[in-house]
Amino acid sequence: MAAVLLAAGFLVAPNAHAAASGEAGDVDTSALPEIEDGNWLDENPYRGSKKAMELGKAAYDGNCARCHGIDMISGGIAPDLRELGPDYDDYFIGKVRAGVQRNGMTYMPPFEGVLDQQSMWAIRAYVDKRHYEYKDKNLDELYEQWDGGKSEDDTAAQRSPAPAAASPAVARGDSGASARRVADDDIPDRLEQIRAKGAIEIAVYQAFPPWSYKPESGGVTGIDVAIGKALAKRLDVGFNLRTFVADESMGDDIRNQVWKGHYLGGGTADAMLHVGMAPEFQQENDQATFLAPYYNETMGFAYDAERLGGDVDSPLALKGKPIGVGLDTLGDYFLTSAYRGALRDDVVHFRSVPAAMRALNSGEVAAVMAPVGELAGAVTMLQELNVTTRTVELGGMYQTNWDVGVAIKASNPALAKAINEAIQQMREDGTIETIFEEYGVPYRAPAAPETAARTAAL
Ligand code: HEC
Repeated sequence: MAAVLLAAGFLVAPNAHAAASGEAGDVDTSALPEIEDGNWLDENPYRGSKKAMELGKAAYDGNCARCHGIDMISGGIAPDLRELGPDYDDYFIGKVRAGVQRNGMTYMPPFEGVLDQQSMWAIRAYVDKRHYEYKDKNLDELYEQWDGGKSEDDTAAQRSPAPAAASPAVARGDSGASARRVADDDIPDRLEQIRAKGAIEIAVYQAFPPWSYKPESGGVTGIDVAIGKALAKRLDVGFNLRTFVADESMGDDIRNQVWKGHYLGGGTADAMLHVGMAPEFQQENDQATFLAPYYNETMGFAYDAERLGGDVDSPLALKGKPIGVGLDTLGDYFLTSAYRGALRDDVVHFRSVPAAMRALNSGEVAAVMAPVGELAGAVTMLQELNVTTRTVELGGMYQTNWDVGVAIKASNPALAKAINEAIQQMREDGTIETIFEEYGVPYRAPAAPETAARTAAL
């Protein structure tokens, strides 16, 4: 199963952990020439400014150092920004504004709306400085490029004094995002359509045990399938199941399944299960409403304690021993990047998590790394013996647990409310927990149940 699953929310919690060395967010850039609000520049207006470098360093320490390294000396998690010469201003600002997301995973969070443009260019000025130092270039040549922002032909940097009204807060890029979620009055709420059809169609991933999969004999089954059925019953409508193959990213899956439909046709389902609930991921996918978290998934590893001669409390203790992962799964990504890559050479790839678990059973690998739900599911299916499963808790840039919930098309408040209430009841009366028990997977309540209430209020 592709890495895309659950990937949302894994890895990065933007702004959640400021480096010890500084506060996250803007620095006071009022000493620098102002930049007109909304006018994104593609060249650094502060090039060579010592003041900008100094402020940039503070902003860097608070926002970037945790990944790009103290003094910009990369520890291998993120690229070494000292390599980024002055020709790359537009590349720099593009990355900082948008961050880097691939396959549904956030490698670097977006900073637009977090930092104002002045802070971003101040960081850029500091990057220049570190570049010059790193490449042993003459820093005076860089300082000479600063003309105090006075030049007339440079529309970029406009001279202060700033009128009192134009406080830095106004310049911050938080406009627009919330305005997009506008209700469409012409189309009836999807709940009405479901009631008219007499059935709800629910989309789940294909071949994703123990959540949704087809065993050798019998129809499609799994925890998500059972939750979907129970949800339909609660809504007092019939249940139609749709299974789909994971696309490039979870964002694509949500687009294909709930709000736009696949370009090959087939329309959309009424709801999709097992979506990651990370707030930044929700923001990126604002055509969908995320609701009703029903489980908290956590990264973990499984091993045979007897064979390893005792308990293992951190994956690091496995160094030098083969660790199985499903190819391109979260376990795969995690092992190659976490702990500064210390376990990278120990990774052995398998077609799937159950295949890796089979190899654990036969002694081919010492441990398997995957989200604990998948590990537990594989344990029951394969009737593994002597397997201990532990969760991994990593601070810093790694978010090792994340809530899983439901996505529907945005602007369907009645459906959102109905699903929220139904899942809430199912959590309270033990229905969800019983389903997990039936599949031999320990239930972990979502970390943020209040998300449900918040989304319902939208
Ligand atoms: C959570 C970790 C994280 C944080 C925080 C972070 N970055 Fe990054 N950044 C990355 C990673 C990882 C990449 C490489 C992404 C990829 O694979 O393309 C990257 C890439 C970049 C790049 C492109 C570099 C290149 O060589 O392609 C720039 C520029 C950059 N970051 C600047 C910043 C700045 C400036 C900040 C602070 C405002 C920042 N980053 C904060 C993780 C982070």
